Amino acid sequence: MSYCVTVGCSHPENPNSAEYCQGCGQLLLLQNRYLAIKPLSRGGFGRTFLAIDQQIPSHPYCVIKQFLVQYENPQDYQTAAKLFRQEAVRLDQLGKHPQIPQLLANFEQNQQLFIVQEYIEGKTLFDELKQDGLFTEQKIWQVLKQILPILQFIHEQNIIHRDIKPANLMRRCSLPSAPENSLNPVNNLTQIPPTVQMGEQEQAQISAKLKQKIGDIYSEEISSITISKNIGENEIVLIDFGIAKLLTGTALLQSGTIIGTPEFMAPEQMRGTVYPASDLYSLGLTCLYLITGISPGKLYDEHNEKWNWRSYLTPQQIISDRLETILNRLISTTINQRYKSAEEALKTIQYSETSLNIPIKPVIPIKKVSQKVTQTITKTIPKLPNLLDRIKQNFFPNQLNDPLKSAVGVDYTKLQELLAKKHWKQADQETWVVLCQALKKSKKTYLHPKDLENLPGEDLRTINHLWVKYSNGKFGFSIQNQIYQKVERDYGKFCHQVGWLTYNPHNPDYGIEYKISAPVGHLPTRNWIISTGKWWQHLEILAEKLASCKIN
Ligand SMILES: Nc1ncnc2c1ncn2[C@@H]1O[C@H](COP(=O)(O)OP(=O)(O)O)[C@@H](O)[C@H]1O
Ligand SMILES: [Mg+2]
Repeated sequence: MSYCVTVGCSHPENPNSAEYCQGCGQLLLLQNRYLAIKPLSRGGFGRTFLAIDQQIPSHPYCVIKQFLVQYENPQDYQTAAKLFRQEAVRLDQLGKHPQIPQLLANFEQNQQLFIVQEYIEGKTLFDELKQDGLFTEQKIWQVLKQILPILQFIHEQNIIHRDIKPANLMRRCSLPSAPENSLNPVNNLTQIPPTVQMGEQEQAQISAKLKQKIGDIYSEEISSITISKNIGENEIVLIDFGIAKLLTGTALLQSGTIIGTPEFMAPEQMRGTVYPASDLYSLGLTCLYLITGISPGKLYDEHNEKWNWRSYLTPQQIISDRLETILNRLISTTINQRYKSAEEALKTIQYSETSLNIPIKPVIPIKKVSQKVTQTITKTIPKLPNLLDRIKQNFFPNQLNDPLKSAVGVDYTKLQELLAKKHWKQADQETWVVLCQALKKSKKTYLHPKDLENLPGEDLRTINHLWVKYSNGKFGFSIQNQIYQKVERDYGKFCHQVGWLTYNPHNPDYGIEYKISAPVGHLPTRNWIISTGKWWQHLEILAEKLASCKIN
């Protein structure tokens, strides 16, 4: 099929053999060379077509972008055309980057402005998300490491893309991405970027037809799309340097004309001003969309004015603190809190990689505990009760002779009984209950880490004693504190050791093992702490409290 690009043409679809459009009579071939064969998308300022270059024997694909703006008078068109020519020079410069489509031509025809660019064989990250599922952390690192250098490159040339989003990032492909790198396919994406996509099947059909047609004549040259650049397979390419974007700030587009996709736009861009950091923001949101499959607007908690994307992660999704920190800086609503440049963001990533030279995979609930820590902990394990004691503990917990002291009259017998019977989950919940009682708060109030400062020493000692004693030194606050000190108060490492997630999952019990076989220090949980975003705070305060009460 040939496709007529004339604006307003009522029957743009034409048979392959047609020279003139059967609908409007216009010549179908542009510049005696480029033949549009299929519309790819229609945006506010233009249209994009898949096309073929008839002048090259193998008739390779190319992409035609048509700039569509209503001109009030001919003068306006002249100005637009002049700027368009100037801007094409810049686009040409950009296309020298291997991850930006090369500009093949720019021309005016019938008072219409066109650019022709290199066709990228592959699919957009939006399509990849739909087909292969949510992106893993590993894939997100790849996106960041591939896109940040492109942004650095364009920003250095004073160009701001303004529309970074999954539908404008294409992975050059010939190979399907490895299934082990993806999570489940996404069935219900909550947001679809406003781009009409050509279906893969259609694309394949067109490709097959074209190959057949051309193959008869030039059978050996089919795959010889000559691109002088060094092309990497699976490389991500930044597309959609729309002409309109290059013309913003000119009189042609009324001031205040906003270009971009609102969902991914930085707040300042929404207000009509852009900076290079606006692209960084959109890149951060792009990553979050690829991680969660949820429209960026929904990842923001308006009531608390903060991002809450973590709570949308599925139980299978593991995102490290390292990545979280970087993403959160990218999506900071305050420009000054974002990275100053793409280069700075990239350097931070590289630096964090080298400084991460520690044998730790953050966040995964860990079954094993490192030798070193186990050794230190075992030193503190009280002597194993003999068999008779154990039987007694199971059947006659009240005769266990524990000092159940409380400075505020809290009854610890239930906690004692649950722990003696190894009912870890209930004991964990009871711990929350007694902590509230000792702090004179109503049952199961979420506690602020600072509340721990007010916990009477005697009560902390009793709770801790019961946990340590009945877990044979495996669980308890003092055990957790020993691990925390051992890892030099590094919360990420601590979580790794005790098998906790470094974030607050939707279901607080996710990743928790209420078993004696859980890692040392795994219990009691921190489920009773209110989320302040500073999870380590409770360990810090607990450490000071334990030290001041001489509990170790
Ligand atoms: N150079 C290209 N190579 C291959 N496909 C492209 C290219 N440019 C655009 N596309 C496809 O066309 C779609 C729309 O193009 P785009 O440049 O993003 O225009 P729009 O302004 O309509 O978003 C893209 O999402 C992509 O699927
Ligand atoms: Mg686009």
